[in-house]
Amino acid sequence: MIPFEKNEVDGTKDQAVIVHPDLGSLSQNALENRLEEAVGLALAIGLKSTSARYFTVRAPKPGTLFGSGQVEQIKTILVQEDAGILIVDGTLSAIQQRNLEEALKVKVIDRTGLILEIFGARAATAEGGLQVELAHLDYQAGRLVRSWTHLERQRGGFGFLGGPGETQIESDRRMIRDRMAKLRKELSHLRKTRGLHRSRRQKAPWPVIALVGYTNAGKSTLFNRLTGADVFAEDLLFATLDPTMRQFTLPGYDKAIISDTVGFVSDLPTQLVAAFRATLEEVTAADVIIHVRDISHASSDEQARDVEQILLELGVDLEEGQGAPIIEAWNKIDLIDPDDPETIKLPQYIPGNVCLISAAKGDGVDALIEMITENLSRNHNIETVKLPVSDGKRLAWLHENGRILESEQENGNFVLAVQMSNRNWGRFQAL
Ligand code: GTP
Repeated sequence: MIPFEKNEVDGTKDQAVIVHPDLGSLSQNALENRLEEAVGLALAIGLKSTSARYFTVRAPKPGTLFGSGQVEQIKTILVQEDAGILIVDGTLSAIQQRNLEEALKVKVIDRTGLILEIFGARAATAEGGLQVELAHLDYQAGRLVRSWTHLERQRGGFGFLGGPGETQIESDRRMIRDRMAKLRKELSHLRKTRGLHRSRRQKAPWPVIALVGYTNAGKSTLFNRLTGADVFAEDLLFATLDPTMRQFTLPGYDKAIISDTVGFVSDLPTQLVAAFRATLEEVTAADVIIHVRDISHASSDEQARDVEQILLELGVDLEEGQGAPIIEAWNKIDLIDPDDPETIKLPQYIPGNVCLISAAKGDGVDALIEMITENLSRNHNIETVKLPVSDGKRLAWLHENGRILESEQENGNFVLAVQMSNRNWGRFQAL
């Protein structure tokens, strides 16, 4: 158990107790990190936790997940700590959630609900907002949620914490379905517009660089450092939700575009991965991906694996030489004290596409920029192609998949200077 300082606000019952159901898949260290992360997630929507602990669940109970003795223990903790919210850092079925609420007489929220709530509070653009609302409704549709109106008034958002009263549930279900249909329509309209923007960008001879990484890894800080922008960088999980795109200068290029994206977290709700798939297409379309890692974090390796898993789900090809090159930016090296045996030891040998940086202090950022340029040039060749003017099919393919830098007509042929990734050159040859 990790004890946390008790919140000063008393009597409002706005404080939360966090419990993690340990199903046996995590090591002791990983468990403690998960608890710490859950505290951070709760804080991201302004919930202070009085304590965070895990319970070993050997045989999950269909009705309550935790065993009856454990439910009693949790109840005692809630009373002792005067908490009005129980955060279960795991997945609860609708029934488990309802039964726990009834047994404990407090609001119960699971990890998916919590993350959705954070996303709801953070989405800044129209599209981000629609996506989160859709994911939220999808999650809510199957749940009966009680009324916790005082919380709803305080926090706004989409009202997971303050849901509709049970008597309204049936009519609400229909409303939810109608609203979801409407949101899907609006989203598809917005996506079309964004798709147009993207294809225009892809045709322009500017490389696109995407930042990805676990939440709080330092993406926005690096983004700001590279672009001189002032994007919201805060020690708050999920400070960035919508991809932010900016121009920045890259040696050897007129311009480059860099996009900062939503941070990832382990067990990201599937509804959200689906919802953000379209937005994260920016990542799949990037020329270089920078995976920003908080190398000072005790779970840095686990976080990196979670990020890679989500990238795979999004359709990013992680195999070397296949998709866009991935550079790992090992961030926050300023926090690593090489003389302290307690801190993570950086390996003696730093593998290939890795750059050590401190986005906050600026160390290593020049080397990172160099690495980006190197990867871009390695991945992009400019070649001259001669095509009969009548070969509309190949011409269209080149427009679609490459960047036409120059085009001239000569004796019934197009002579084109085309810039494309090696992978696309291979595909073109096979055409
Ligand atoms: P999400 O929006 O949650 O995905 O986070 P992010 O990856 O954009 O992280 P952000 O840039 O907001 O940074 C998170 C915290 O780490 C902030 O408090 C930063 O000041 C801090 N931080 C970022 N880079 C460094 C670094 O190089 N060294 C130190 N010491 N702190 C850093």
